[in-house]
Amino acid sequence: MRVAVWGTGNMGRAGIRAVVAHPQLDLVGVVGRSRAGEDAGVLADLEPLGITVSPDLPEGLDALAYMASGDIRPDDAAADIAGCLRAGAVVVTPSIYALYDPSSAPASLRRPLEDACTEGGSALFVSGIDPGWGNDILPVLLTGIASAVTQVRCQELFDYSTYDQPDAVRNSVGMGGPMDSTPIMVAPGIPTMIWGGQLRLMARALGIELDEIREQVERRALDEDVTNVMGLFEKGTQGGLRFEIQGIVGGRAKLVVEHVTRISPEVAPDWPSPPDGGAGAHRIVLEGRPRIEVTIEATDEGGNRAAGGNATAAARLVNAIPWLRDAKPGLYDALDVPLMPAVGKL
Ligand SMILES: NC(=O)c1ccc[n+]([C@@H]2O[C@H](COP(=O)([O-])OP(=O)(O)OC[C@H]3O[C@@H](n4cnc5c(N)ncnc54)[C@H](OP(=O)(O)O)[C@@H]3O)[C@@H](O)[C@H]2O)c1
Repeated sequence: MRVAVWGTGNMGRAGIRAVVAHPQLDLVGVVGRSRAGEDAGVLADLEPLGITVSPDLPEGLDALAYMASGDIRPDDAAADIAGCLRAGAVVVTPSIYALYDPSSAPASLRRPLEDACTEGGSALFVSGIDPGWGNDILPVLLTGIASAVTQVRCQELFDYSTYDQPDAVRNSVGMGGPMDSTPIMVAPGIPTMIWGGQLRLMARALGIELDEIREQVERRALDEDVTNVMGLFEKGTQGGLRFEIQGIVGGRAKLVVEHVTRISPEVAPDWPSPPDGGAGAHRIVLEGRPRIEVTIEATDEGGNRAAGGNATAAARLVNAIPWLRDAKPGLYDALDVPLMPAVGKL
């Protein structure tokens, strides 16, 4: 299949590697402005591929991995994606949070994309890691090896000192910001907007109906100044953020998505940390009998945990492309799209 990757950032690099590694996919183009003119292989930490990053989308695509940022431009991202769907290409992307669970997405966002799929005979899958496999298909699959389950908890545990994305870390997550104002990431309603669809996906798979979704936020100030790749984070500003999005049934939190985020490993030692002491992990905890705990610690790009996580997100999407090509036109969610074994890759 002729596949292009749109985007040259964290997810774009991981997407290039995932397409190149897939025996059924042929990378024919990489779209981007800031890295235009560079070799896509070198950009993605591979051997040169002879494919030059270009602002122009190649024609005649079978599939597109849309890895351009959609956080602050969801409408523009949706328009880019719709254009490709109309042209007949399968599209996979992590970039539009409201579409991780298409059935609960606003009709104004969903319908034009459904129409584009119908027109082009194509399919769209929006997913990632967290939101993504860390709180949809993986925990749901794990319940199949449990007997009694009283709670499903999905954790992302990350030390952001190695995550060189100052805009996200400072402005969105609020690290280094004042303790008396709420960071955008946990402003009331935002966690539910991003992860509520994941709770609804899990609830559907597990046959329960959520009475409500609740948010819980806890923050810690830095006891001393901390300096890392993003500069100085001053004593007294936010150094730790822990929040939960809870799916409530009968007054109890049955499904929980929890994020524990620090700007330095010393912050909040009483909060959960990755078991191996590394900079980041995703963990599923099934309370019940037996109690089951599964931790995933992925690394890439020189031992980096954020890059490892992004690489799994990109692989989940890219590996779905052949399945989507054979699916009926339309929008698919993480419960529809099977987790693909690495056939032909070893
Ligand atoms: N759910 C998950 O697990 C997960 C994980 C990671 C990321 N994500 C999502 O994936 C997306 C990409 O994240 P990232 O970490 O790869 O971001 P990034 O490293 O900041 O890269 C952003 C990319 O978006 C492109 N871009 C920015 N503004 C654009 C615009 N106006 N028009 C077209 N392209 C534009 C940039 O293109 P140029 O090359 O032209 O500069 C760049 O290639 C985000 O929406 C993020 O939320 C989701």
